[in-house]
Amino acid sequence: MSEAKRVAVVPGDGIGREAIPAAQQVLDAVADGREGIDFEFVSGEAGDRVQERTGSALPEETRELVTGADAALFGAAGETAAEVIIPLRRAIDAFANVRPATAYPGVGALQPEADLVFVRENTEGVYAGHEADLAPGVTTLTRVITAEASERIARFGFEYAAEHDYSVTVAHKANVMQTTDGQFLEGVATVSEELDVEYETVLMDALAMELVRDPTDYGVVICPNLAGDVLSDLAAGFVGGLGLLASANIGPERALFEPVHGTAPDIAGQKVANPTAAILCGAHLLEYFEFEAAGADVREAVTETLADGPRTPDLGGEASTDEVTAAIVDRL
Ligand code: NAI
Ligand code: MG
Repeated sequence: MSEAKRVAVVPGDGIGREAIPAAQQVLDAVADGREGIDFEFVSGEAGDRVQERTGSALPEETRELVTGADAALFGAAGETAAEVIIPLRRAIDAFANVRPATAYPGVGALQPEADLVFVRENTEGVYAGHEADLAPGVTTLTRVITAEASERIARFGFEYAAEHDYSVTVAHKANVMQTTDGQFLEGVATVSEELDVEYETVLMDALAMELVRDPTDYGVVICPNLAGDVLSDLAAGFVGGLGLLASANIGPERALFEPVHGTAPDIAGQKVANPTAAILCGAHLLEYFEFEAAGADVREAVTETLADGPRTPDLGGEASTDEVTAAIVDRL
């Protein structure tokens, strides 16, 4: 039997504490049923609750748990979200933010055929942190685009697209940001030549419009940091509710998976959180470890459950988190 994969489990606050255990239950069911898949879960705390108790939203033990694991499942943190998730992404050098936007049947998506994956450069661009007050009333921001980071995200995006059989589109605004997005496109071109793969480039503003009109022409969309942030939220809006969307932060050696949603204080504690986003994080985690068949089975069980029910109240149903999770586990 192969060695157990070590997975850090950090549910955080609010419905993170309901959704992440659901994902863990699904991963346990997968591991139970299959030869060669084995997980060792190690749990840590992060967020508002632990901050109230200890003064730190991200205790050193939790950071070490994540940097010492093969992968992490993070739920959500409340008011302290930025103090938790940004340092955790940095700790694993998460250069790629992967945001699938797939519409599932039966959930009333505005674009029911959409099946896209945003691959967002996660370390530089306008989020590199170089802002300045030049003079009273005059501020500036420096956009950083390097060959190294551009090539790294392009390689990741092309490889992801090849594995999952998607086309590749590269979003940019090199007609205006000639130097920086020129560099970004050059990085993409270098890697595409090396891998001998094809892609198209689209101006990011035009892409926003095209995506709303007809997203079915697109597969993997490789984006600079800010464009990826905005375009992936835009697509999130047309594939369904927050309870369905998973994301991954991929580093060179480890990865962190998190639902896109937050702590949902309006429903936290009622045990009706939709566990789908967290469970899809689990599917992505399985695929990350190259347990592709298991990942595909989880996705199929999720798809069937969304179509046939039971469903949580956010999708118009009456089922609890546990009932939906049990239905997904049964289908496995
Ligand atoms: P939110 O995602 O927590 O909730 C927005 C709305 O969507 C709410 O009505 C909520 O009930 C619903 N919703 C979200 N996920 C759901 C699920 N799985 N099942 C059913 N309904 C769901 O976003 P909001 O309200 O803007 O933020 C609440 C708190 O979460 C804030 O303190 C914020 O800082 C934090 N947050 C943390 C994030 C993170 O840790 N990565 C990300 C986003 C917000
Ligand atoms: Mg965002």
